[in-house]
Amino acid sequence: MCGIVGYVGEQHPKEFLIDGLKKLEYRGYDSSGIAIKNSDNIQIIKSTGKISDLEDKVNNENLINSKLGIAHTRWATHGEANETNAHPHKVGRTTLVHNGIIENATDLKNKLVNEGVVFRSETDTEVACAVINNYYNGDPIKAITEAIKTLKGSYAFGILFEDQDKLYAVRKDSPLIVGIGEGENYIASDIAAIIKYTDKYMLLEDDEVVELTKDEVKVYKDGVKIDKEVQTSTMTIEDANKGNYKHFMLKEIMEEPIVLQRTLNKYINDMDKMVDISSYEEIHIVACGSALYAGMIGKCLLEEKANIKCMTECASEYRYKKIIYDRKTLVILVSQSGETADTIAAMRKAHEEGIDTLAIVNVKTSTIAREAKQTLFIEAGPEIAVATTKAYLLQVAMFSLIALKAAHSKGLEDNYNEILKEAKSLPDYLRKVLNDKDTFAGVGKEIKDARDAFYIGRGVDYAMCEEGSLKLKEVSYTHSDAYQAGELKHGTISLIEEGVPVFAIITNDKIKDKTESNVIEVESRQARIYTITNDPSIMNHHFKYVVEKLSDYFQPILIVPPLQLIGYYTALERGLDIDKPRNLAKSVTVE
Ligand code: AGP
Ligand code: GLU
Repeated sequence: MCGIVGYVGEQHPKEFLIDGLKKLEYRGYDSSGIAIKNSDNIQIIKSTGKISDLEDKVNNENLINSKLGIAHTRWATHGEANETNAHPHKVGRTTLVHNGIIENATDLKNKLVNEGVVFRSETDTEVACAVINNYYNGDPIKAITEAIKTLKGSYAFGILFEDQDKLYAVRKDSPLIVGIGEGENYIASDIAAIIKYTDKYMLLEDDEVVELTKDEVKVYKDGVKIDKEVQTSTMTIEDANKGNYKHFMLKEIMEEPIVLQRTLNKYINDMDKMVDISSYEEIHIVACGSALYAGMIGKCLLEEKANIKCMTECASEYRYKKIIYDRKTLVILVSQSGETADTIAAMRKAHEEGIDTLAIVNVKTSTIAREAKQTLFIEAGPEIAVATTKAYLLQVAMFSLIALKAAHSKGLEDNYNEILKEAKSLPDYLRKVLNDKDTFAGVGKEIKDARDAFYIGRGVDYAMCEEGSLKLKEVSYTHSDAYQAGELKHGTISLIEEGVPVFAIITNDKIKDKTESNVIEVESRQARIYTITNDPSIMNHHFKYVVEKLSDYFQPILIVPPLQLIGYYTALERGLDIDKPRNLAKSVTVE
């Protein structure tokens, strides 16, 4: 995913634009650029690589006087990551930056080329710029309103017109907010880019066109001016900074007890506030990546504890496959960003079928949060590192509470009050685990040169293996796979050779002996065993870490953070760009 910032005010825009792009770096990008303008000139500077490369270029240019500008980090979808394809793009009197994909760009480009328009880049964005420019005849609102009727796909645009000293923007499916300052106003892809300047913002709905001057923000829908609520963000400047931590990922793991406390406290003293899904006969849990793995834990709990039939499916499959719904189906969407394209599409598919949806989301201003029939917000605060940790953990905790509420409603949970009491101590138990972070740093040191790693477990332990494996892959680039422990002998065990790290997750008393025998199978082939368990009696084959034994509802909350830390420290040992791993984006807002 990429980022947009824009500024109009009394100051030269350069500082805000570069600073804003740096705050959006975590979203992933491959190139960047800025455009600043005054009444006579527009200056565009672009660069491949890091924002710091762009900053160097900007600092070496003679910048024009300006109080208005836009800037962009690109995550290429149409055309390679080079300077020509980087944004901003300028066609005629129109200059713009874009987040998203224009799906009918080829058809539009062919038509425009036939009309004599000359394109410099391979991007769909330049086509959108040419379309808006074609409609522009001195009335920006009219031009944008008419142009977007011809565009298919997703967009957030920041737009400048040669003869206007105002900033324009519009969005559809890609996030964009308006920041309200003192004698200056802003646009940005998310709050992190503007929180240093203001906590006041407006949310733009799809196809609302906004015009900003330093003193005024006007919003139009279908060319008619509308009123919009100004909201106040709860985010702090510290949230958008690393503080004393080397990486956001470690900061966000160490924040887990605090944000867990914040989320649990919303419900455990008054579970009437928790959604009761006990009346549904089937639950579809749909998400991507780590959010899906949190959903897999949710499935285990809802089936085992609340006796509700569940299926989990990645959103990119769910959105296209034939789904047989019955009326008593609930679709639960899980998404940190609330902007993941496949998960949005899955949600809209359920709505088209008249099926209820419940979203578990972190970003309150997101599309999924606004469109789902019901939304449960995890209180993770902004998660900057691309690899999710605290948000994933709170997604799991939310499923724990949903399952507990459903089981209680169905009269299936005799220890309801004890479990709620346990929840109150959960942040302290978790703090104790995180205080052992040096233990996991030692594991990172041991496995830093491993070419492969395997994670094995059964039932809910397998779901945790999937997340542990993804964390290691994402940030340390170590190939790893998670396997149902019983599956190893059906092929995978051929991959086990001397010294291969195998992580065994063992928390389920009923089947711990079975997993133990799988551990012995791989150890007899010289694998190096790292066991994470809640049972001190489990054998220590090489490394064993024992956490507090909790109810099934909350046990995963103590097991996964060690896996997160092992992924982090392995990547640290390899000296990698932990907060912004190669090829990855914080939220995948395109298919
Ligand atoms: C997790 O570390 C990854 N960054 C990725 O798998 C992520 O969980 C997935 O893209 C879903 O994102 P979302 O929760 O914002 O929808
Ligand atoms: N599709 C546009 C491009 O490839 C924008 C990609 C983005 O969102 O950064 O340039």
